[in-house]
Amino acid sequence: MKNPKVGLAILALVLGAVVIGGLAGWQIRQQNVAGVSQAQDAGSASEGKDILRATYDPIHFRPAIEKATDEQCLACHREVLDDKVRETSPAGIKAANSKAWYQRMSTYTGEQDTFHRRHLTTPMAKELMNLSCTTCHQGSDPRDEAPGTSATGTPQSDNGFTLRKTVNPETTCLKCHGQMNATVMGLPSPWPESKEMFGNSCVTCHAAIRTNRHQVTYLKADAIEAAGQANGDVCYGCHGGRAWYRIEYPYPRHPWEGMSPDVPDWAKNRPVESEARFVLPAGGQSKK
Ligand code: HEC
Ligand code: HEC
Ligand code: HEC
Ligand code: HEC
Ligand code: HEC
Repeated sequence: MKNPKVGLAILALVLGAVVIGGLAGWQIRQQNVAGVSQAQDAGSASEGKDILRATYDPIHFRPAIEKATDEQCLACHREVLDDKVRETSPAGIKAANSKAWYQRMSTYTGEQDTFHRRHLTTPMAKELMNLSCTTCHQGSDPRDEAPGTSATGTPQSDNGFTLRKTVNPETTCLKCHGQMNATVMGLPSPWPESKEMFGNSCVTCHAAIRTNRHQVTYLKADAIEAAGQANGDVCYGCHGGRAWYRIEYPYPRHPWEGMSPDVPDWAKNRPVESEARFVLPAGGQSKK
């Protein structure tokens, strides 16, 4: 740089940009703090702006969590939906080249994505399901992440979450990630072996058996039937094809037309209605 005046002018410009940039960043941080306190005012009676108060915000506990909307949770937890997985791991492995077995099913589409986004925002999630934060989250206890360990904490009788977890897997995940009950269905062998016999279609039988299904707030019953007709893997996906457990979920046994009045032994302890908190208001399925 030959001309010292030009050099100085550039230096001044750079310094100016740094100061303005810093100020803008500071303002954004101030706004974020204000955002948290606004969410608190809207969602609960607590006041204050510190992280500890937000951690113990009553919205995390019953009864407030039962009525909470996704918008209220997302006011503080935007990252749950915004974060994306790394394209490449720190060791250099590409996400696109390391698909797990359940990501090789015919229903899996798109790039690898986070757990929350796969249940809430990906095309399949939106087409078939209607999950909210509170479908899975019914409470947590930041103190020691266990129910019933202090007089003021969540009591042991509350089954909204279990030890060291912020959900109750048995009453949430197992519904869509349990084993397929091939014995009850009278299938000659596990589905991957017997499916050819039925044209890879669940509805060959289920057009007439257990027809009263999926009438719950967190599922889109009509869309599931349409997709399941076209591709049996859609049904199997939630009923054994993505099983994280060695057990089956004990589904409620809704009466259906043409059902035999004799209740088989295995079904004697089964409820005949969906869990109360998910039952649809009379007269129709959920829309969202
Ligand atoms: C006022 C802001 C605020 C609101 C509203 C809020 N949270 Fe939180 N939440 C926090 C903070 C702060 C923490 C503690 C984070 C930490 O310790 O890293 C937390 C912790 C959690 C945790 C435990 C995280 C962990 O690692 O153990 C879960 C799960 C959670 N929130 C879910 C929810 C859900 C679901 C809702 C809506 C019903 C909600 N939050 C509403 C601020 C909020
Ligand atoms: C399909 C069930 C499900 C849904 C729906 C769901 N979560 Fe979670 N969430 C989980 C599980 C499982 C974890 C991990 C729990 C653990 O580690 O104990 C988790 C963890 C979290 C955490 C801890 C931080 C993290 O990212 O791991 C926060 C905060 C959270 N969820 C907020 C939310 C919010 C806000 C929503 C709604 C937009 C939501 N969740 C919807 C199941 C769910
Ligand atoms: C209402 C049904 C339903 C519930 C409840 C549910 N899931 Fe899922 N889950 C799905 C579906 C459908 C997919 C496949 C999404 C896809 O392939 O796009 C999936 C995919 C997943 C994946 C794989 C994500 C990936 O990257 O491929 C994991 C892990 C998972 N679920 C864990 C859980 C856990 C843990 C819970 C309980 C907190 C839970 N799910 C509750 C329906 C459900
Ligand atoms: C050979 C006929 C047949 C085929 C094929 C079949 N099912 Fe079934 N399914 C049944 C019968 C029979 C029952 C038990 C009916 C009753 O409640 O008495 C049943 C029950 C179920 C139940 C409830 C299980 C419980 O424990 O309450 C689910 C879920 C289910 N089937 C899903 C599927 C899915 C998904 C497929 C395809 C991957 C499929 N079925 C294929 C005959 C079949
Ligand atoms: C997104 C996940 C998902 C998909 C896809 C899905 N199911 Fe289900 N299914 C569930 C859940 C969750 C329940 C339990 C709902 C409840 O509690 O009432 C259920 C319940 C059932 C039941 C028990 C019915 C009863 O008596 O209440 C049958 C049978 C069944 N599904 C068959 C099928 C068939 C056939 C398909 C494909 C057309 C299918 N499912 C696709 C999640 C799914």
